[in-house]
Amino acid sequence: MIDYSKALSQKARDLKPSGIRKFFDMLEGRKGVISLTVGQPDFATPWHIRDAGIDSIADGHTFYTSNRGTPEMRRELSNYLERRFDLTYNPETELLVTVGASEAIDLAIRATVDEGDEVIVPMPSFVCYDPLVHMAGGKSVVIECTAEDNFKLTPEKLRAAITERTKLIVLPYPSNPTGVILEKAELEALAKVILETNAVVLSDEIYAELTYGKKHCSIATLPAMKERTIVVNGFSKAYAMTGWRLGYSAAPEQLTEAMFKIHQYGVMCAPTVSQYAATEALRNGDADIEMMKEEYDRRRKYLVKALNDIGLPCPKPEGAFYVFMQVGHYGLSSEEFCERLLEEQQVAIVPGNAFGQCGEGYARLSYAYSLEHLKEAVKRMEKFVQSLK
Ligand SMILES: Cc1ncc(COP(=O)(O)O)c(C=O)c1O
Repeated sequence: MIDYSKALSQKARDLKPSGIRKFFDMLEGRKGVISLTVGQPDFATPWHIRDAGIDSIADGHTFYTSNRGTPEMRRELSNYLERRFDLTYNPETELLVTVGASEAIDLAIRATVDEGDEVIVPMPSFVCYDPLVHMAGGKSVVIECTAEDNFKLTPEKLRAAITERTKLIVLPYPSNPTGVILEKAELEALAKVILETNAVVLSDEIYAELTYGKKHCSIATLPAMKERTIVVNGFSKAYAMTGWRLGYSAAPEQLTEAMFKIHQYGVMCAPTVSQYAATEALRNGDADIEMMKEEYDRRRKYLVKALNDIGLPCPKPEGAFYVFMQVGHYGLSSEEFCERLLEEQQVAIVPGNAFGQCGEGYARLSYAYSLEHLKEAVKRMEKFVQSLK
């Protein structure tokens, strides 16, 4: 019989299951649960985008594309980045179409990190950075961003975390799970610290389109930052296209080339049908983004006020579609709070510590759900917190 403990790599065996997954597993088979756990739009992909995908299949575009993505898509992407975010990238050499932003993140890490190298990861944040750094043989250096810092990475904390081995700095803003954004002046202060090093920045801007009020600013637009920044983005959140698995990176040629080599051997190219659909999204999708954003904004305003009113304080998030609410003041750990809320009121939310230890005392709620759904969840949460008093 095969001995799997010997068959599996040490790195794979050391990988811990995601804290979010653990909570999803608890939901399985339960009836009547109101879930606010999922980080994906509740909208279906707009029809003109779906049609472009359908047409591409009907027209026989069922083959591999250029490894980097179709030239047409990269041209549209280049126009889009310029139009929406003042980012200038050469479609021939600086853009790479990937399997979701997820692949772009993995490529960015693997293209820059050698065994023992350090990657700075501000937390609480999305769950993939640390495990992917681990698989690349690197070491995550976690910066704990706390409520006192408004969950933002500060230049002081960044400077203190940098060593000679720092190869990559992850900037995950707008943030999942906190909804925090970094404004230009804050990015400038971080850039000042980063420019003293030889480190590359992995700027995960998947929520760039979903900011409420203040326009997203990419660190790559700041002086001298473009040459050391890998911008990662994708179609999942802005265009409600999670299942199409399409993302991209934008970075100077040397960085793109290194990522491209890994991409070419690992996946050949991103799905062809998705590239055709995404090209339409880039061309004619601005109004869809606006429509969905307005709806998220309505929900955001409702939810923040409602939660504060029932004794679950949370700051107003400025981006993405999450609320990071305080639960620690009820004397329960984040996990206890969420487990009991699920048991007693059938509402599912994600414990804050799933996004890093500094998320303890908090919980993440997604408002990528209808207002009706949110209202029912709030009603149940109110009953739950009343019972804790
Ligand atoms: C911050 C962040 N980055 C990246 C991703 C992955 O996105 P994609 O579906 O494009 O792989 C997510 C998905 O939740 C996310 O929240």
